Amino acid sequence: MRITVIGTGYLGATHAACMAELGFDVLGVDIDERKIEQLAAGQLPFHEPGLPELLKKHTASGKLRFTTSFEEAGAWGDVHFIGVGTPQKPGGYGADIRYVDAAALSLAQHITKDALIVGKSTVPVGTARRLACLVQEKHTGPGTIRFAWNPEFLREGFAVKDTISPDRLVIGIEDRDLDAEAILREVYASQLAAETPMIFTDYETAELVKVAANAFLATKISFINAFSEVTEFVGGDIRTLADAIGHDARIGRRFLNAGVGFGGGCLPKDIRALQARVSELGLDRTMRFLTEVDEINLRRRDRVVALTEEILGRLNGATVGILGVAFKPDSDDVRDSPALDVAARLFNAGADVNVYDPQGNANAAKRFPRLNYVDSVPAAVRDAQVVILLTEWQEFKNLHPEDLNGLVANKIIIDGRNVLNVQEWEDADWTVAALGRKFEPSREAIGLNAPV
Ligand code: UGA
Repeated sequence: MRITVIGTGYLGATHAACMAELGFDVLGVDIDERKIEQLAAGQLPFHEPGLPELLKKHTASGKLRFTTSFEEAGAWGDVHFIGVGTPQKPGGYGADIRYVDAAALSLAQHITKDALIVGKSTVPVGTARRLACLVQEKHTGPGTIRFAWNPEFLREGFAVKDTISPDRLVIGIEDRDLDAEAILREVYASQLAAETPMIFTDYETAELVKVAANAFLATKISFINAFSEVTEFVGGDIRTLADAIGHDARIGRRFLNAGVGFGGGCLPKDIRALQARVSELGLDRTMRFLTEVDEINLRRRDRVVALTEEILGRLNGATVGILGVAFKPDSDDVRDSPALDVAARLFNAGADVNVYDPQGNANAAKRFPRLNYVDSVPAAVRDAQVVILLTEWQEFKNLHPEDLNGLVANKIIIDGRNVLNVQEWEDADWTVAALGRKFEPSREAIGLNAPV
């Protein structure tokens, strides 16, 4: 069975390389010529643990090839996965699905034999049914086109594992399309052998499962971050609170890490797109709670900026050392990154901002070139009046006070991800302000009598 994957970003490149690893012949397709050249040369244009090895292995073996030609893809492939982006529309909340439409329609025009098109991108409910019809209209060549929707649940940083061994597979197909079902059982035979739950359903349910999962995860994070606002006010320890409620199996501890909140190319835009879509359907009130989820999340960024100002007296002219700009560790992705947002806002308020991220600097510099990007923790914290940890890379979690002593101007650190051992830092004479903990030492107590 020959597989094509349209779109070679975080999702598509991973899916293509993993399908080759599972033994299929795969053709990756993208309209971006430069990206295709790089991938064909075995170079991954983004950071994802484990993926460079698969890409090199299968471009070398010939099982994985890349092209910009839809004509080639349509003539060659038996199963075509669509994994292009659906970013937030500029100036609106809805998802921009023009790339999905373009990919499906270009394919339909060029398919010349029996084929199955499988959408993987995250789309507003109703997209699959609309495209399934449009594809038939556009297809004038030989062969029959079948259509399915198979949302992707992979996490950046774990993308290879999540693709090879997902925790579930969800597939929307047309009523009684047993051929599409049989083809996808063959594609995912190794996952089925590993007893991965495989749920066949209709298009709408498949589309909604994806956004429901991301909306739930976003809500869980904002839930604990709302409690952070309370513990910051009354005192208390947000980590212990999360541990304690997390022991209830109905709640669970995962995704209850309080901090500067969620970002990335998925959670923020997916909760907004869902609200936009249900409003279009006339169900305005249904997802209104997600507005609150979004606002709680964005308030965490405000809180870090306010806390920095509270500590330093003023931001203008202050020197700040930022640890982390990626939206999460093990990723170089800075889309809607809380860390980059905070860094940029401190800069805009007049601070000198030195930033270090193990992988995210280059992408951050493209979006916000005016920050001072440096290549190590010591360079980021040198002369800092406050250090702010915003992405929980292992390298930062491993830090000890003695690693920074002697470099910083003030021994003050804001833990924006609740990953430091506060006691250890306080024992070493550091002032630690962690999100979700009450912070009230007087400016005298932290050795700052006059504004910096
Ligand atoms: C998310 C989902 O977890 C995936 O299942 C989904 O496939 C993907 O979106 C997608 O739609 O493509 P991802 O964006 O890679 O995956 O990142 P997550 O691991 O979900 O983290 C999202 C954000 O939440 C990060 O900024 C992270 O720092 C933050 N987060 C996560 C918290 O603030 N607290 C937590 O407890 C967990």
